[in-house]
Amino acid sequence: MEPYETIAHDVLIIGAGGAGLRAAIAVMEAGLDCGIVCKSLLGKAHTVMAEGGAAAALANMHEPDNWKVHFRDTIIGGAYLNNPRTVELFAKEAIERVLELEEYGAVFDRTSEGLIAQRPFGGHTYRRLNHVGDRTGLELIRTLQDKAVSMGPAVHMEQTVTRLLTSEGRIVGALAYERADGRIIVYRAKAVVLATGGWGRMYRHTSNSWESTGDGAAMALVAGADLIDMEMVQFHPTGMLWPPAVRGLLVTEAVRGEGGILRNGRGERFMFKPEYMPERYRGKFADDPEEAERWLDDKNNNRRPPELLPRDEVARAIYKEVKAGRGTEHGGAYLDVSHRGAAYVKKKLPSMYEQFLALGDVDITSQPMEVYPTVHYAMGGIRVEPDTCATCVRGLYAAGECAAGLHGANRLGGNSLTDILVFGRRAGQAAAEYARSAETGESDAKQIETELDTLLGPLARTEGERPAVLAAELQEAMQSGAMIERSHDGLSSCLAKVQELSERAKRLAVNGDRRFNPGWHAARDIRFQLLLSEAIVRSALERKESRGAQWRSDYPLTDPEWGKVNLVARLRDGALTIEKAPLPPMADHLREIMEEVRR
Ligand code: FUM
Repeated sequence: MEPYETIAHDVLIIGAGGAGLRAAIAVMEAGLDCGIVCKSLLGKAHTVMAEGGAAAALANMHEPDNWKVHFRDTIIGGAYLNNPRTVELFAKEAIERVLELEEYGAVFDRTSEGLIAQRPFGGHTYRRLNHVGDRTGLELIRTLQDKAVSMGPAVHMEQTVTRLLTSEGRIVGALAYERADGRIIVYRAKAVVLATGGWGRMYRHTSNSWESTGDGAAMALVAGADLIDMEMVQFHPTGMLWPPAVRGLLVTEAVRGEGGILRNGRGERFMFKPEYMPERYRGKFADDPEEAERWLDDKNNNRRPPELLPRDEVARAIYKEVKAGRGTEHGGAYLDVSHRGAAYVKKKLPSMYEQFLALGDVDITSQPMEVYPTVHYAMGGIRVEPDTCATCVRGLYAAGECAAGLHGANRLGGNSLTDILVFGRRAGQAAAEYARSAETGESDAKQIETELDTLLGPLARTEGERPAVLAAELQEAMQSGAMIERSHDGLSSCLAKVQELSERAKRLAVNGDRRFNPGWHAARDIRFQLLLSEAIVRSALERKESRGAQWRSDYPLTDPEWGKVNLVARLRDGALTIEKAPLPPMADHLREIMEEVRR
């Protein structure tokens, strides 16, 4: 067999974004040996793209916020598909985790009283986004990285993990390759934490970085874990639209949080149209632009502008305006924050100012931005226990975007940064506790051999399918068949295309050798992407209703019966199955909160 190096750790953490780093801190606090393996360089994880803030009910803005209101907002925003226990833990612990981050050294923006400054975001009743201008994710990563590195983990950078190794239903390690030279490494570990983020790269226009190919969720599926809610893909309302080379790049929701206005190609502020205001939010938002204008400075008036509806609603409204022929020059909407004044915009949105100036030659202090929805986040993912983040594979834990349960059918902006803090820590603690009493298991030579065949096969073939061609065809299919508006016909042709590509992916061929070979890396990534694409499309076909991010034009209503189930994707004997499973019930004390906390 191909030779490989072996490295052992008590706990192996795969992924070095916020969830991975926070898990590593917890493992090292427990006194265990911790290895972190990441595809990129430390500090470059996709966490930086959560720009606008970390949601936690600190109540620093003279508003009656508390964890219960945050709990309720998250459940309503998630269209009731969330795991209630997960949301409870999250809303309570988000507060301590943000304060802890400050103790670690994060430099937040401040109120005039010296407290952490909070801004409004879609679907949050109060100003709840603790922020650092529009660079919150970056500051979070910087802080966690400083803290984690000071505790001495082994960091293995620029390595891609391609297979989890199991034995008798428990995790024993993982197989990885070094991106620079293709060296194979087998990690032996008593416990593994997956913190690998999301999978937006199977769509043509996405805010996601090159790393977001869904490796973690796909590997978990292969190892026997369940995925849930895979149909729930978040379309962030505002991605860059022009120039084409940067289409999809995130335009932070903080622009709207700071008063940004959406207009269509005719100059109409379309979010005030009654058809874009869902029944459950009626009366909670400003009725007209004058009232919305007053809200900016009047902290006692909580009727926010409708631009701050949850993301699924705003994304659909932009999509509908464009489809009705009321788009901008390049087929999107205008987002304008120039009325806030140049000094304010540069202080609160420095990255947006620089991004548009450098990439689009647009000065956002005096000109509107052109925006269109972009694929941003996966609400679905690996099914985990709320308290421990344990999967159904013993010794395997998952946290952050690759895990599911918290966000239901639609994530509220800002909830991802506190998700990774709360559940990164919980996953690290639980993995450490398990590893403390577990033995290091033996790797199964057959699993290693099978993975080496998959990984190295494309290098051995001279003739065959090119990964870049398959990736482009997949992006095209997902972009047209599994985007914001879905239907049986569109999803069915998308599924047929995904299945055709999966067949073709058995004959991948790449040029060159293992050294610095992006074509070879793409050959492994595409197989993960195809597996998850199939799970997304088949789950979207199965869920015959509209809820949160899943909008079926052939089933436009939300069906209470569908609100009682998660869809579970499993891999059994190589075949993907999608089954209904009852949603975990809401405990009585949480039901009371839903009744008692009024917006
Ligand atoms: O718009 C944003 O700044 C993104 C934040 C998030 O996804 O939480």
